[in-house]
Amino acid sequence: EKGGFDWFMRKEIYEQPQAVADTLLGRYDAEGKLTLDEIRISPEELRRINKIVIVACGTAYHAGLVAKYAIEHWTRIPCEVDIASEFRYRDPIIDPNTLVVTISQSGETADTLMAIRHAREQHAKVIAICNVNGATIPRESDAVIYTHAGPERGVASTKGYLTQVVACYLLGLYLAQVRGMKYGDEIKAITDELQKMPAAIQTMLDNDQQILDLSKDLMDDRSFFFLGRHVGYPSALEGALKLKEIAYKHAEGFPAGELKHGSIALIEQDIPVFVMVPPQGRDQLHDKVVSNIQEVRARGAKTIVLVEEGDDSVNPYADVIIRHPKASTLLQPLLAIVPLQLFACEVATLLGNDVDQPRNLAKSVTVE
Ligand code: M6R
Repeated sequence: EKGGFDWFMRKEIYEQPQAVADTLLGRYDAEGKLTLDEIRISPEELRRINKIVIVACGTAYHAGLVAKYAIEHWTRIPCEVDIASEFRYRDPIIDPNTLVVTISQSGETADTLMAIRHAREQHAKVIAICNVNGATIPRESDAVIYTHAGPERGVASTKGYLTQVVACYLLGLYLAQVRGMKYGDEIKAITDELQKMPAAIQTMLDNDQQILDLSKDLMDDRSFFFLGRHVGYPSALEGALKLKEIAYKHAEGFPAGELKHGSIALIEQDIPVFVMVPPQGRDQLHDKVVSNIQEVRARGAKTIVLVEEGDDSVNPYADVIIRHPKASTLLQPLLAIVPLQLFACEVATLLGNDVDQPRNLAKSVTVE
């Protein structure tokens, strides 16, 4: 049932092009506009929303962090992201015009469920993004967007994550569409570009050999850093979480610009640092990230740089270059995370760990 793969996790990584295609399936009309029929919240109500709060745990929280950048940019609605176990204890400001978006692969995570109950007591509308049909979280929410990723068995979430990010994009684009946002052309372009992402993810997987080789080279290192800015930052957090969970390595994700405010002191000779680079010429942060790479390299780090094809600006400062197809900044997380998932899976395999059942972890955390 692992389809010839050694682990469910690896199988699920390679299923991602199909999983993302399935998340997108049936959500476009004949003119290429989004039709999120399952949002049983009327367009009038959606137009009244003046604040969005995304609540989730772990990997789903990282999907929420990506979503914040996209949703705020496309809808201009202020959007917060909170860790579910923190949310209700901070006495959050929510009311009937707040849209609470919860993200949960399993739909059974207790922290997230308790956050939903709290939000509904305050009369907020709750939309669940979930992968499991009829799970508790969608049942207790006003509406649900299913990710349709198919069952995820590996404890480390992979296709669950990618499809959550896609579902968040669909929600953001739909809200922008319903609210008649002035970025009409941009919304249309991104809506179209999303359809090309399964093929782009497949390209990442076709180039897996480089990551498998890199895993051999780095498997004995003790500490790993992941850097990114803007949507590259949640990708850094997620890449680090994967490595912690299954390879039991010390790994930290940082906003690349924040490193020099303290944590750069940790950089020592040959420490592997993965860096996500935004698109060259189309993103104001590109050059800043390239100088962040130079900063860590100058202090002895081994730099592993994820960058789009055709961008040679990093060549002098990268020990390893991992290329991905061109994509808009906001869609880059769908590509950047794939090699990081594979890297964690392969390092854990080489170390002899049980990738699908890592120590101390359960697939779904049903206690608070
Ligand atoms: O089922 P959920 O999406 O609610 O689970 C949330 C987290 O427990 C989950 O993402 C966890 O962080 C994974 N093990 C990450 O790989």
